[in-house]
Amino acid sequence: MHPCRDLHLHRAVSASALLLFSASIILSAVPAARAQQETEHEEEFSYSLDAENGPAHWGEIKEEWSACGKGEIQSPIDLAGPRVTLVRRLGHLNHSYAPANASIVNRGHDIMVRFEGDAGSVSIDGTAYHLRQLHWHAPTEHSVNGRRYDMELHMVHQSAQGKAAVIGVLYEIGARDALLHKLEPYLEMIAKQRDRQEKVGVVDARGARGRASVYYRYVGSLTTPPCTQGVIWTIVKRVRTVSKHQLELLREAVHDEMEKNARPRQELNSRDISMFWPIQHNRN
Ligand SMILES: *[C@@H]1O[C@H](CO)[C@@H](O)[C@H](O)[C@H]1NC(C)=O
Ligand SMILES: *[C@@H]1O[C@H](CO)[C@@H](O)[C@H](O)[C@H]1NC(C)=O
Repeated sequence: MHPCRDLHLHRAVSASALLLFSASIILSAVPAARAQQETEHEEEFSYSLDAENGPAHWGEIKEEWSACGKGEIQSPIDLAGPRVTLVRRLGHLNHSYAPANASIVNRGHDIMVRFEGDAGSVSIDGTAYHLRQLHWHAPTEHSVNGRRYDMELHMVHQSAQGKAAVIGVLYEIGARDALLHKLEPYLEMIAKQRDRQEKVGVVDARGARGRASVYYRYVGSLTTPPCTQGVIWTIVKRVRTVSKHQLELLREAVHDEMEKNARPRQELNSRDISMFWPIQHNRN
């Protein structure tokens, strides 16, 4: 893909991030991120820090995964206060999510809900990114000022041109999460077998994101191999809650003999992190 097209799609990001972003595309010749590209072969990589196929070695496992090792704009990152700039023109995150039929899949390294019908889209910089799947990481992959929370939901979207945008929602232990509550019986079913799929009926993504409007924005990558770069990240600032039981169900269902499925944080390098904060009209 010609870098100018990418530049156009990322107008909202500051100039330095754009330069770095387009430069890295030219240098590494990584194609535009595809939401469905995330690998589904769990045995090929591990989250175990000292394993031969652990996060430090993902980029050496396969040629197609080289961005995991050499990429300059990888995810996740620490959303560190001093690097965050308020950018009002990012605007409210507008979505048109709608209930759609879905299946739940045990990918071995995580649990994914894949939409079969049209689950709606989110609009970023004038482009519609369609919601394709949801999956969970525990603990969180992104951290805020160095703090990791208990769980991170990734809502993976894809544009008609195949570019990916992921919305991340952070959770800490507390009251139960309504979306996971609906999925609990299915989590128990798929826990017994790797790569197992079950139809879960209609899933409504509107409940997943909530009404929170403050968010962080930066350009990064998929957090699993092939670590494809050019993913537009949106991390919702408000931390939601998940029950201990729900988190245990998710962890047990994953089946990877590991307690964690979170990639270590990656270098920010010269990227900027933007933040959208709506104007308060009722300030007194
Ligand atoms: C969301 O919708 C509002 C109102 O139509 C608009 O002003 C804003 O720019 C939109 N946000 C984005 C990110 O497109
Ligand atoms: C979900 O699938 C069922 C059975 O195939 C169908 O009747 C229903 O209309 C679908 N619902 C949505 C929201 O697509």
